[in-house]
Amino acid sequence: MSEKVTLSYDGKSVELPVIVGSEGERGIDIARLRDQTGLITYDDGYRNTGSCTSDITFIDGEKGILRYRGYPIEELAEKSTFVEVAWLLIYGNLPDRQELKAFSDMFTEFQVLHEDMKHHFEGFPPNAHPMAILSSMINASGCFTRELTAPNDPTKFRRHSARLISQVRTIAAFAYRKSRGLPSVYPKPEYKYTENFLHMMFSMPYDDIALEPEAVAALDQIFLLHADHEQNCSTSTVRMVASSRANIFASAAAGVCALWGPLHGGANQAVLDMLTQIRSEGDDGSKFLEHVKSKEGGKRLMGFGHAVYRNYDPRAKIIKASCDKLLARLKKSDPLLDIALKLEETALKDSYFLERKLYPNVDFYSGIIMRALGIPTEMFTVMFAIGRMPGWIANFKEVMDDPKSRIYRPRQVYTGPTIRNYVPLEKRSAH
Ligand code: CMC
Repeated sequence: MSEKVTLSYDGKSVELPVIVGSEGERGIDIARLRDQTGLITYDDGYRNTGSCTSDITFIDGEKGILRYRGYPIEELAEKSTFVEVAWLLIYGNLPDRQELKAFSDMFTEFQVLHEDMKHHFEGFPPNAHPMAILSSMINASGCFTRELTAPNDPTKFRRHSARLISQVRTIAAFAYRKSRGLPSVYPKPEYKYTENFLHMMFSMPYDDIALEPEAVAALDQIFLLHADHEQNCSTSTVRMVASSRANIFASAAAGVCALWGPLHGGANQAVLDMLTQIRSEGDDGSKFLEHVKSKEGGKRLMGFGHAVYRNYDPRAKIIKASCDKLLARLKKSDPLLDIALKLEETALKDSYFLERKLYPNVDFYSGIIMRALGIPTEMFTVMFAIGRMPGWIANFKEVMDDPKSRIYRPRQVYTGPTIRNYVPLEKRSAH
């Protein structure tokens, strides 16, 4: 028998159905609440609101579980690749050989940007943040794609989504080269996804860099670990924009903007800035943690805490292990890693962090890996965006494929002035 919740208000009782997810999560379906009671719900920041049902990603924040389409993140990180996971997220199952080849071939087909897009890069000032360039250029690349207004055509969707995943890395690498005044390096068809990105970032038109397999694997894993995370700020933004039936490029460009903020994807850059500052002050992290706990200047321990996880972020565990392995293989040590380790060790014993259930998140160690790969700090959030693209696309598809999907339109509880009459300028007193 289906469960119901009874709500009593103003002498009336209404029954609201409970919907149950495949992992037993329960949500009260309030679709008819306003019609039946005149009430809306108020949930500042949406922390108790399910904005959709979704088949893509499952998170249990209390237990520290993350699964893409049912597969544990630990297993995918160990055995799969970013490209395979991109297919899994978008189409629901692991690809067979033929599907994987066709998908990879499309990345090769689309990897080069339209030559005219190069003029757009020229227009940005030298210090433009690469996230600003990325969102603008993703939207611009939609202008170079024909027949954008057919989101429900599966063949076009396949091509548009492959084009986005392929070109986001080309745009990212070109943005970096532009910011450093370096010549653009074109992708090579014989390279795989992540190899090609590193090639475009660090080779010269006259000299290809030698790519270390361990470095390629570490970055591929970072992309994979960032590939989806259910209804976070940027993914909800993508779904919101998609719900108006905006095209896939516009929706993804909006996702990039939402990701940029330091409380979301920008945290990986903020972690490195924080570690660098701690080091420059000759601190080992202890003084910094005292400032954080006293909430002086609103400082936070970046890379710690999560809106959903009240436990260790499972991605952080994988990244930490991968960071140790990579630094050992590359025979590198990093003083910032020592500070990060000390911060983690101290915070995990400190009542401030324990009581608030603040644990390391995905961004705490990813920056150290990217630094070891030579990726500059201002590009860190761009790496997150490259990784998150398949998740945004899978969510875009879910919105478009749902025949019941309507434009997203939350309501509000208005708290501004009640009605008043217009006062002509000459009769207004100074405020
Ligand atoms: N350092 C110090 N105190 C913190 C931190 C932190 N990183 N995060 C939360 N708190 C405190 C906060 O001050 C509050 O204390 P009190 O109860 O005394 O007022 C309490 O913990 C709860 O904080 P909140 O702001 O209500 O928590 P939230 O769930 O809204 O915030 C968060 C989640 C991720 C924005 C926050 O933990 C944070 O700002 N972390 C640092 C930024 C960061 O690493 N972001 C990356 C998130 S993972 C990547 C992604 O998916 O985007």
